Amino acid sequence: SDPTLLILPGDGIGPEVMAEVRKVIEWFGANGGPSFTVEEDLVGGASYDAHGTPLTDAAMERAQNADAVLLGAVGGPAYDALDFSVKPERGLLRLRKEMDLFANLRPAQCFEALADFSSLKREVVSGLDLMIVRELTSGIYFGEPRGIVREGNERVGINTQRYTESEIARVARSAFELARKRDGRVCSMEKANVMESGILWREVVQEIHDAEYQDVELSHMYADAGAMQICRNPKQFDVIVTDNLFGDILSDAAAMLTGSLGMLPSASLGVPMENGRPKALYEPVHGSAPDIAGQGKANPIACILSFAMALRYSFDRGDEATRLESAVEKVLADGLRTADLMGPEDGTPVSTSQMGDAIVAALAAA
Ligand code: NAI
Ligand code: MG
Repeated sequence: SDPTLLILPGDGIGPEVMAEVRKVIEWFGANGGPSFTVEEDLVGGASYDAHGTPLTDAAMERAQNADAVLLGAVGGPAYDALDFSVKPERGLLRLRKEMDLFANLRPAQCFEALADFSSLKREVVSGLDLMIVRELTSGIYFGEPRGIVREGNERVGINTQRYTESEIARVARSAFELARKRDGRVCSMEKANVMESGILWREVVQEIHDAEYQDVELSHMYADAGAMQICRNPKQFDVIVTDNLFGDILSDAAAMLTGSLGMLPSASLGVPMENGRPKALYEPVHGSAPDIAGQGKANPIACILSFAMALRYSFDRGDEATRLESAVEKVLADGLRTADLMGPEDGTPVSTSQMGDAIVAALAAA
């Protein structure tokens, strides 16, 4: 039977961009591509409005049982004054925590037609396709002891970087598995020169590689040198795997290689399920964009590319993922732009649904 895809549109522009993903899903289903049993549920403020909670137990259970979850965005000014326990973000945090999504994937992919939009020179980013895998559930943001304590007559701020061998091993496996579906190369980044956790990180990644993934090419780099290389020559990388703190910084830097927030997809992966697929949540990097919600201005590409990631990394449909990405490239090359992708003098932007329709038309024409 068809795999299950749970769609959680959420708030603000979430439902608007998700409507365009639906068109893509329907097109594939009707044209011999992958087909899915699509379920839909509420998350964030939309769920709070209906049920008084940002994620119901029923929706949580559906997410646990789905083959992949695709989320729009959560939040908005209407919910800012709510108690923290029922804030829209809590719905997303619950999904990540209960599905144990420890590997956060942030691709930096440069579409040729937008190469001049990058913060870097065209030749540095043109053709770029790099993936950062950030460990998301451990490391210095969670380690104990932590706190602000008094020592003598001053205060001391304390956080602890702590990684267990199994935490490193599982995110390393995620990175090696991804590399097998990409260009077969992983670069692991830490600071083994000054951190014990970095020494262990390097050792464990190397051990997992030697025991299970010798077909993948592995290299190691200090994270500070890595930051420099991501700006100087990002095309040398395929998959980068790194810890929570370094990954937070490196993935934001890499995102700026490619331009607008409206273009950036992401995924969060957990351990493989019985069918071998990782637990997975796919979502655009952007939020609910209340400033443009309800106006048909949102760029649906980040959400559409998140679905392309689902095709490639959850459903082994790399060919269709590439086909979808090529359709996006084609409409951009034809000059179609939502408002976020143009300056004030660049002509007339297309609407959210016009962009979605054009991508479907490009799929059909390919
Ligand atoms: P945002 O990402 O929603 O918006 C930042 C700016 O980028 C806005 O000017 C917006 O119009 C623009 N933008 C974002 N996505 C766009 C798209 N697809 N097309 C065109 N323009 C786009 O971040 P902001 O404003 O900080 O947060 C707004 C709300 O979203 C808040 O409630 C925040 O908590 C929530 N949020 C939710 C996230 C999630 O669901 N994962 C992530 C980030 C923020
Ligand atoms: Mg960040």
